[in-house]
Amino acid sequence: MNYKNAKWRKEMELKIDYNNMMKEFIGEEQGFSDKDFFDNKEMIKSSYQTVLKNRGTGMMGWTELPYNQSEIVEDIILTAKSIKKKFDNFVVLGIGGSALGPVAVFNALCHLRHNELPKSKRKAPRLYVEDNVDPERMQALLDVIDLDKTMFNVITKSGATSETMAQYLIIMDILKKKYGEKAKEHIIATTSQSKGNLIKIAKQEGLKTFYIPDGVGGRFSELCPVGLLPAAVVGIDIKAMLAGAKHMDKICQNKDVRKNPALLTAFLQVLAMKKGKNISVMMPYADSLKYIADWYCQLWGESLGKAVDNDGNKVFVGQTPVKALGVTDQHSQIQLYREGPFDKVITLIAVENFRTTFEISQGCEDIKDVSFLCGHTMNELINAERRATEYALTTANRLNHTIILPQVNAFTIGELLYLFEMQTAYAGAMLNINTFDQPGVEGGKNATYALFGKQGYEKTKEEMDNAPKKQTKYIC
Ligand code: PA5
Repeated sequence: MNYKNAKWRKEMELKIDYNNMMKEFIGEEQGFSDKDFFDNKEMIKSSYQTVLKNRGTGMMGWTELPYNQSEIVEDIILTAKSIKKKFDNFVVLGIGGSALGPVAVFNALCHLRHNELPKSKRKAPRLYVEDNVDPERMQALLDVIDLDKTMFNVITKSGATSETMAQYLIIMDILKKKYGEKAKEHIIATTSQSKGNLIKIAKQEGLKTFYIPDGVGGRFSELCPVGLLPAAVVGIDIKAMLAGAKHMDKICQNKDVRKNPALLTAFLQVLAMKKGKNISVMMPYADSLKYIADWYCQLWGESLGKAVDNDGNKVFVGQTPVKALGVTDQHSQIQLYREGPFDKVITLIAVENFRTTFEISQGCEDIKDVSFLCGHTMNELINAERRATEYALTTANRLNHTIILPQVNAFTIGELLYLFEMQTAYAGAMLNINTFDQPGVEGGKNATYALFGKQGYEKTKEEMDNAPKKQTKYIC
């Protein structure tokens, strides 16, 4: 689809229905009203100003990605074209922000069984994203790929992440043993240009390299080469994705909180958090969006889960993100969401027009309990079930809102990703925390270095060795 000629609202513009967050829908105790907006107008204003002031600077370099990548995009498209000609598999080696975005976008925009399609129908390489160091998974990958037909993409901004670098070492060794000097023709590096180990290695080995801009952190990196290269290789229109992000960026700069979906959602979530709703459930009603919920969980959890605020006060804030899938989880989680504690905000994602239609066949005419389905479509059924969930949650006074995508396409996915990124930035500013660091993640990385005897981590190792031992009286 050509997004420039698209029928606008029908194909391109997502909207959000917030009614089920409002007091008149959800009841006096749970919902929000004009008074809440009035009482918090200073917090909303200062968050808006902070984000506006910081955009494009420091760790907010990601706000410029929809605008400043035209040359890089051309390079990515050319590289993807030549990969498509020579290779049948594209394997990403990365973790966290280097993996969750590529997985989410691939699943949203490619055939749901892309890797299993026969080559004649697939038209682009298979994509594998290897984001763990489980030895069985590594073996399983090597069992299914033909190395001659495989291009690897090692992605790590720091070049120091144990999981990614362990995978790189294993793969590079295998490639060198098989191809010698030509190993470099099977691996591309995506990393920081200015620091880290991978850039040094890439130069030594003569690898083709793409760069992660300094101001773009892992979980905000899907719209830079981290996500754009894998997406282009599997045939996704990356220009349309960036155009969607740009469109959303414009909307999310609106000063009026009621017209700025990122600011508004951030405010409603933060207010909910302050009222004890510490769980944010992301529940798309489309299999294609299942992994967008995974990506959101990292973005929201890693960005907002912080011990101290910008003034050094201990705050221990954050909202635990939970992924769910409609309608699948209607038969498990919804019981809890509707009747359990009032500690959640539920975001539903609806798709108005699916990319295919399935009619439910006639049959079982004598059995009315079954035949009522006949003549309808699966499309109608999935959306009816979503509306039923919305109704069930709202009548049970559970905060929920629905993001509505007219279709799942590259443009709307660009909009959606960018909306969540901006919402996270506004929410972090409202909480007065550093949204863009991850000391908790670094802590885990450092402890691993120490356990493996990495130079410079002797003190951490000593601390770990001297940590209080487990006491059986507390375990039993
Ligand atoms: O969001 C983040 O910064 C992290 O989740 C990183 O993406 C993750 O830890 C991987 O880091 P790196 O890209 O340095 O390998």
